[in-house]
Amino acid sequence: MKKVEWYHDFIDLKYKPKNTDLKVLFYFEPAKDETKDDAIGRIASESSTGTWTTLYNLPARMKHIMAKAYKVHGNHVQIAYPLDLWELGNAPQLLSGIAGNIFGMKALNNLRLVDASLPKEYLKSFQGPNLGIHELRKYFKIYNRPLTGAVPKPKLGFSAEEHAQIGFETWAGGFDLVKDDENLSSQKFNNFYKRVQLMSKLRDRAEKETGEIKDALINITAETDEMKKRARALHEHGFKYAMIDVVTSGFSAVQTLREILGDYGMAIHAHRAMHASFDRNQKHGISMQFLAKIMRMIGVDEIHSGTEYGKLVGSHEEVQAITSVLRESNVKEKEKFLLNQDWGKIKGAFPVSSGGLHPGLVPNEMKLYGKDFMMLVSGGIHGHPQGTRAGAIATMQAIESTKKKITLEEYAKTHSELAEALKKWGRLNPK
Ligand code: 6PG
Ligand code: MG
Repeated sequence: MKKVEWYHDFIDLKYKPKNTDLKVLFYFEPAKDETKDDAIGRIASESSTGTWTTLYNLPARMKHIMAKAYKVHGNHVQIAYPLDLWELGNAPQLLSGIAGNIFGMKALNNLRLVDASLPKEYLKSFQGPNLGIHELRKYFKIYNRPLTGAVPKPKLGFSAEEHAQIGFETWAGGFDLVKDDENLSSQKFNNFYKRVQLMSKLRDRAEKETGEIKDALINITAETDEMKKRARALHEHGFKYAMIDVVTSGFSAVQTLREILGDYGMAIHAHRAMHASFDRNQKHGISMQFLAKIMRMIGVDEIHSGTEYGKLVGSHEEVQAITSVLRESNVKEKEKFLLNQDWGKIKGAFPVSSGGLHPGLVPNEMKLYGKDFMMLVSGGIHGHPQGTRAGAIATMQAIESTKKKITLEEYAKTHSELAEALKKWGRLNPK
């Protein structure tokens, strides 16, 4: 008995993808007793028009909308998906196809969606970031350094008043942004609406005292209708941003909020909490660069992207791949990591480096990212022996010294806050 005749119909190594095809790069490992072709056929089939057995009397259309595996390289395969498989402007539907049932097939031991190349015709149905890198820089009037932000730490437990006060110290020390942590929403001890009100008052005071633009990344994550209300409250209090936990909220909610926040002229700060449950295992799941791509497509203005040197997992190659996907307008193929991507008119988004950073790691982060990124330093300012404000000052000094190509140790001779920070943390890579 022929076991997989239908599945093999999805492999065509002579096929040349069309400009309108969506292409996906997968890493795969067949299960024991399965051939590579059996595995590949199943990936292409189940993610497009498939079933498990040969059928008869199919409409002619079927032949045209089947996915085609067209390139195999070791354990990597590229699959082309005709545009008609996809509903324009529907991100969840795309994921239900290329990132859906296929991860659970018995014929595969492991399967990883590494990247996708989105055709122009498909991209056109999404808006991308509302403000993006250039307009956010214009808003802050900051052009030649990373944007800076901090989360009050510990991550939960402060009242709205305490939170806003720590925020004020952060701003006063020279930081641009105060950020909520991902699990802060509207708890008994720190109500969202109260926090927004107090933060807006202290933001105004900080702007007046420093003469700089200050803003906040306040977390609106909740049920979608409530998120809309929270977005409106932020708008009414003059904030330029709303923060969303984009994975836990869901792709559909992010699409809805992109519309609403766009009408308010606001940006989305995307926190990626939960991403490591599907991107940490390098052999299975979904890569972080693919998540970043879908989020740029929907329209977040920035998303967390790792540090390489801080406390959270994330390799040099991964950070580079995410950064390319977020910032470049024309991404070039990089074997095993990236496919070509022409972003057309879609704006670039900031990568956000966060997790265990402190002034001693600033030169590493600036070397890794250049200047177009957001740097969040939280424990690394609040843990400064002279307090939050001095910690923020020390971090800004580290940025200055790196820009001037002076070593931190040299700069610290005339900058006492930086000297204190280096005394405590040196160049430590925290865990
Ligand atoms: C965030 C991230 C995360 C975390 C950090 C930042 O909300 O930004 O979840 O990276 O909160 O731990 O704080 P530290 O600088 O203290 O690590
Ligand atoms: Mg956090």
